[in-house]
Amino acid sequence: MVQTVAWIVSLIFMLLIAGVFIFVVIQSKERSDYEPIKKKWYKVRKFYAISLVILMLVVTIYTLRELPYDQPVYGESVDPTIVDVEALQFGWNISDTKFKVGEPIEFRVTSADVTHGFGIYDEDMTLVAQTQAMPEYTNKVFITFTKPGTYEILCLEYCGLGHHVMIETIEVTE
Ligand code: CUA
Repeated sequence: MVQTVAWIVSLIFMLLIAGVFIFVVIQSKERSDYEPIKKKWYKVRKFYAISLVILMLVVTIYTLRELPYDQPVYGESVDPTIVDVEALQFGWNISDTKFKVGEPIEFRVTSADVTHGFGIYDEDMTLVAQTQAMPEYTNKVFITFTKPGTYEILCLEYCGLGHHVMIETIEVTE
């Protein structure tokens, strides 16, 4: 479904671009003075560049300001359960693997060797939280499970021959 929509949208844009090219080819037979065109379009280009920079800055600041996502407000809500996670070739050392629905959890993720990826998947194999596991650095990821079940932790970054065996499960109960 998503692929079909993406394909149709791509097709529309490809046809639009092709249309612009054909238009330019047809128009290019006519000769005209270059200087006034240059002046006008340099102005347009400058305006476009500045607008893009402003737009990107706004979007970047807006989307990054809540990092790390789902961080509980200390003092206002329950203090999160702190769980230490260490990734290593090839497995996980996790200080706790049993949690309750509604319990805020703070995973502190690091690595003993190379860079790994820490990804939590629900029973439908949907990624519900992730961060990088980096050596000599601790990344925090916050999550409050809303559904009970068996969740799987998989490595999200190719880290060597045993990358695919880096699987751990966590249990979330009511
Ligand atoms: Cu650890 Cu891939």
